[in-house]
Amino acid sequence: MNEDERGTVEDLPDPQGRTTDVSDASLSDQDDARRAALVDSLPRPSADTPLLAELQLDARRRIELRGRKFPRPERTRVITVANQKGGVGKTTTTVNLAAALAQAGLQVLVLDNDPQGNASTALGIDHRAGTPSIYEVLVDSAPMHEAVQESPDVPGLWCLPATIDLSGAEIELVSMVARETRLRTALDGYFEWRTRQGLDQIDYVFVDCPPSLGLLTVNAFVVAREVLIPIQCEYYALEGLSQLLKTIELIQAHLNPGLSVSTILLTMYDARTNLAQQVAQEVRTHFPERTLRTTVPRSVRISEAPSYGQTVMTYDGGSSGALAYLEAARELAERAALSTTTPTTAQARGGSAQEDQ
Ligand SMILES: Nc1ncnc2c1ncn2[C@@H]1O[C@H](COP(=O)(O)OP(=O)(O)O)[C@@H](O)[C@H]1O
Ligand SMILES: [Mg+2]
Repeated sequence: MNEDERGTVEDLPDPQGRTTDVSDASLSDQDDARRAALVDSLPRPSADTPLLAELQLDARRRIELRGRKFPRPERTRVITVANQKGGVGKTTTTVNLAAALAQAGLQVLVLDNDPQGNASTALGIDHRAGTPSIYEVLVDSAPMHEAVQESPDVPGLWCLPATIDLSGAEIELVSMVARETRLRTALDGYFEWRTRQGLDQIDYVFVDCPPSLGLLTVNAFVVAREVLIPIQCEYYALEGLSQLLKTIELIQAHLNPGLSVSTILLTMYDARTNLAQQVAQEVRTHFPERTLRTTVPRSVRISEAPSYGQTVMTYDGGSSGALAYLEAARELAERAALSTTTPTTAQARGGSAQEDQ
């Protein structure tokens, strides 16, 4: 069953027969007491009613989160979303966290660093061949501001698109000077340009990576201070994680000592399967500090949104998937960037029986 079949939170039965008004439109950032009272008024599901529990979770998130402003970080947080496995939710996580933070009043920039350009598509950003893009920035040293576009749907959300040209960049970069630091130089230049223009400071930068550990991903590790690893709650989920962590350790040692894996997000979580619960448990055991409490459920709405050139935050902001990303964005915004070191590869190896085979 998906959320489309579940009905909406407005259908929740109220044991006292009162009307539970959970519409969020009138809730401002200062309405904490009203939000708490509304959450209190929700019916209490028992453990044997998982459907009601899910509806209640959505209702609570809707009341607590929608219309809320998130705290602004002291300085720009640059977060690379990486996992060399394909289809684990990197792009989906990048665009939805970015949109959620921008909707919550922050300035957010997405660097689409994958030749497939999926992040650009999902943000409704033009990325046809010939559009100024990250390719010109990386390969021709073009100024980043000439290629950055603002999202048509969410004010304060910006995107450096990727075009098909980027598929050649991996090879072209090999022989170039400072091939690992070109994205960082370009981003520094963009921040300076924004300051000169009197534009607001960017609060969050997300870099969407291709499913490989080549030079494009290396550039993404060098530009960032934080790595966010989405992990799909399925078999083999942890396979390859130790290779990813080894690469990050190498980057730390040689190119970017300030880099750390700050965040792990469990995606495509299906609470009804034992496997998803086991994978989640295993990840939390090995990375207790870094794994966000929020998991992202498998959701039809999330997978539909890109075909409309939208994030799920604008496509269906009240759906379970959008509310989960909104809650994950709040967690990300509220916890200070963990400055601890990258988890060791040994830790990751212990994390999965399938690893390193
Ligand atoms: N929570 C989710 N529920 C349902 N489908 C999802 C979810 N997250 C991602 N998807 C879908 O899974 C596919 C792979 O996700 P994507 O973010 O493109 O992965 P990656 O960028 O790691 O290759 C896409 O078709 C996407 O729409
Ligand atoms: Mg992708």
